[in-house]
Amino acid sequence: MKLNWGVLACGRIARKFAADLQLVEGGTLYAVASRDLNRAKEFANEFPSEKIYGSYLELVQDPHVDVVYVASPHAMHPDHTKLCLEHGKAVLCEKAFALNYTDALEMVNLARSKNLFLMEALWSRFLPHYLKVREMISGGMIGDLKGVIANFGFKSTQTEDGRHFNPSLGGGSLLDIGIYNVFFAQSILGIPDQIRSSMNTSSTGVDEQCSIIMNYKNGKMATLFSSFASNLETDADIFGTKGRIRLTNRFYEPTSTILYYPDQIDSRLEIRIDKEPGWGYQHEIRHVHQCLEAGLTESPMHSLDDTLSLMNTLDAVRRSMGLEY
Ligand SMILES: NC(=O)c1ccc[n+]([C@@H]2O[C@H](COP(=O)([O-])OP(=O)(O)OC[C@H]3O[C@@H](n4cnc5c(N)ncnc54)[C@H](OP(=O)(O)O)[C@@H]3O)[C@@H](O)[C@H]2O)c1
Repeated sequence: MKLNWGVLACGRIARKFAADLQLVEGGTLYAVASRDLNRAKEFANEFPSEKIYGSYLELVQDPHVDVVYVASPHAMHPDHTKLCLEHGKAVLCEKAFALNYTDALEMVNLARSKNLFLMEALWSRFLPHYLKVREMISGGMIGDLKGVIANFGFKSTQTEDGRHFNPSLGGGSLLDIGIYNVFFAQSILGIPDQIRSSMNTSSTGVDEQCSIIMNYKNGKMATLFSSFASNLETDADIFGTKGRIRLTNRFYEPTSTILYYPDQIDSRLEIRIDKEPGWGYQHEIRHVHQCLEAGLTESPMHSLDDTLSLMNTLDAVRRSMGLEY
């Protein structure tokens, strides 16, 4: 089965995606679309594509596009995803899936009612080192889980109008990078029973830095921090009654190394993972191919219910720290 991909929005992440699509058999970059035809042409100069469109509508009206990668800012994901679904396209939509649970639910309901494939592009979920960590935990290597500590930070050089700080584009550290911390903790520990958070605001009123504590009735905890103000280590620890797993920087990317600290041994062990060339997006792309080839409308690895429960947690974090869009 050969799948024709369409890229909706020709920004930074779309370029990395297009580069990794070249590593995946069975898929081709068939069409690219920008709000500005010249930007789409520039993109296609870097990543050759059969069709080049100066509007998103033309992309979704092309009957030869099988699946669309939505790579616009988070605030636009609901409209752009619904545009694709209304035109019968399967969709891989970038994180954050939407600004809130209500918008996300509308997207999910539309996909389900039309029986079309939809998945949030939470690429970390498909990375080999993340799968290995899950295997180590389920194999009992750190005993009963007790908690997660994760941080993600870099000094953003964007202006107030840019995606990182502009509230109308869904700016703020939580939805852009803190989401990786929350996803990581929730996918390992489960849905928290209590969420408390605090932020300091940028001049635009969104969270420049965000600190989260998640509590679980069974004695687990997560402490998560994201920042657009400083370059942080961007690593993560998962710990239990028999040891600890550390993911070195950047924990959400294939650059990460797994370090294992079993309680009974006085040294750390490095767990080796075979690494492929590329940015790492090829893993989620392959997964989408497998789903589409199997006729699935939802991913069994990162389901739409997983996306909704992540969105629900992000809403709770924002409520606790007083951030509204
Ligand atoms: N998975 C990952 O590792 C990862 C990494 C970075 C970002 N992301 C996610 O990907 C999305 C895009 O991020 P990015 O860094 O690629 O952003 P970006 O470089 O600013 O690109 C976003 C693109 O969206 C389009 N767009 C549509 N409406 C827009 C509007 N009103 N204002 C600005 N741009 C608009 C523009 O493309 P056209 O002008 O061509 O239409 C723009 O180039 C975000 O949701 C982000 O969270 C994911």
